[in-house]
Amino acid sequence: MGSTAADKVAFITGGASGIGAAFATALADQGAVVWIADRQIGPAQELAQRINDTGGKAHAAELDVRSYPSFERAVAEALRYSGRIDYLFNNAGIGAGGEVDSYTLDDWNDVIDVNLRGVAYGIQAVYPIMIRQGGGHIVNTASMAGLVASPGIASYTATKHAVVGMSKALRLEAERHGVRVSVLCPGVIRTPILSGGRYGRSNGLTEEQQLKFWEPLRPLAPEVFAERALRAVSRGKAIIVVPAWWKAFWYLERLSPTLFLWASRSSLKRMREMESTAD
Ligand code: NAI
Repeated sequence: MGSTAADKVAFITGGASGIGAAFATALADQGAVVWIADRQIGPAQELAQRINDTGGKAHAAELDVRSYPSFERAVAEALRYSGRIDYLFNNAGIGAGGEVDSYTLDDWNDVIDVNLRGVAYGIQAVYPIMIRQGGGHIVNTASMAGLVASPGIASYTATKHAVVGMSKALRLEAERHGVRVSVLCPGVIRTPILSGGRYGRSNGLTEEQQLKFWEPLRPLAPEVFAERALRAVSRGKAIIVVPAWWKAFWYLERLSPTLFLWASRSSLKRMREMESTAD
């Protein structure tokens, strides 16, 4: 975020891995105080230590975004130590692969609890603080699956569409409080989520097949993603699509929904073919 993040306090959910870890590192490099809040407290502490060892300012906090009391505790700790929260990165998320006819109720609940309820809880816990401060910036991580329909990850798509809609509505409401709201829509980023992630649900593909499935979509390194996304965040953009070429899919769906459905059908066909050869 250029020099704008210097001395600001950033609270990053899911900060121990992938995109969240890249945000934490980049923001600390810019001089921000970062709170790495994650269910995986060990990796969160290790990352905080690495940042502190190289001259940055980082803290780790244990957080399960599915629990509002857990959010309240972690946010209160950040506030007690750092005095304010300038950025909330509502980034924690899980993947949910597989077709709906293979889901259990628990599969639905898991993805809704983390990807949607977790974002709502983050907003409930931090937005009032930002209102009191007279400013702040909420950055919700959705996905390209929040802009276009993605078969094979229908429940994930549902939660990410909800996050996009929620962010657009909140952005307008929050203007009068001086609070900015942006929503990130990453394309495919090379992180553990691509092969199921630590807590997510995988489809029927092996780990190797899952990585092969995403490869034609040119996964971006999380560090590169973070740098581009933070630049757009610093400009206060509403909907941030990175890599930018993914906007073509978004525009195509609006321009020709039929053509887009055809392209999505081919992608589903490819996934099913790969699944039929999985061990
Ligand atoms: P990741 O699996 O590397 O990181 C996710 C982090 O969230 C992990 O550190 C995990 O411990 C944490 N987490 C999961 N459940 C949690 C919970 N209940 N409470 C607290 N922390 C929890 O995955 P990645 O890719 O960095 O994902 C970050 C966000 O980006 C997610 O919201 C994901 O849906 C989104 N995204 C990722 C894309 C990609 O291609 N990697 C594409 C589009 C969106």
